Amino acid sequence: MVWKKVGEKNEIPEGKGKEFMVDGKHVAIFNQGGYHGLDSICVHQDGSLATGKLDVDIVECPLHFWHYNIKTGELLDYIKGVKLQTYKVEVKSDGLYVDV
Ligand code: FES
Repeated sequence: MVWKKVGEKNEIPEGKGKEFMVDGKHVAIFNQGGYHGLDSICVHQDGSLATGKLDVDIVECPLHFWHYNIKTGELLDYIKGVKLQTYKVEVKSDGLYVDV
């Protein structure tokens, strides 16, 4: 695991998410009660979760409304046992970092 700088400290407003390309991975980072990172590509039809609507710890895929827990990566609809990769995120003095 390696910490990579992806943006500035205030890059993502509270209650929102943003997608970053980090080492060839699409990573969604959400600023929702702290920062949470997970693979941003929905397992249904590759929608980006980064712009999905947030309800506490749950993000809704904007395409067909499947739901994932942003802390665990767990898919909450239709298919049991699906978990997106999650990533640690930290705000350091010079920016926003993700551990990939
Ligand atoms: S692409 Fe996410 S629910 Fe269809």
